[in-house]
Amino acid sequence: METTKVVVGLVSDLDDPGCREFTIGEGDWPFRGFIVRQGDEVYAYQNFCMHAGHPLNWKPDGFLTGDGSQILCSSHGAIYVIESGECVTGTTARAGSCDRSRWK
Ligand code: FES
Repeated sequence: METTKVVVGLVSDLDDPGCREFTIGEGDWPFRGFIVRQGDEVYAYQNFCMHAGHPLNWKPDGFLTGDGSQILCSSHGAIYVIESGECVTGTTARAGSCDRSRWK
């Protein structure tokens, strides 16, 4: 499997908790992802909801619930755990988890 490294920014530039979107590739269908900072940890996910395949956010870098404790899909309200990508609430709760990428 080929590994692609992408510089999204400095961790210190992110709010805690906070998110930032990124894309890899060009054209109509680049890979769309986002990172989530929570304390000293940073998690990276594909920007894709398990329910209907929509991007999770409507607003730029807007991926979290109001209290910043979980990932929220803005389309129909699915909730995902930041640390694991597991869907815990909503229509996708039994469908699985976000596609989490490895982050270093
Ligand atoms: S597309 Fe995310 S909850 Fe429906």
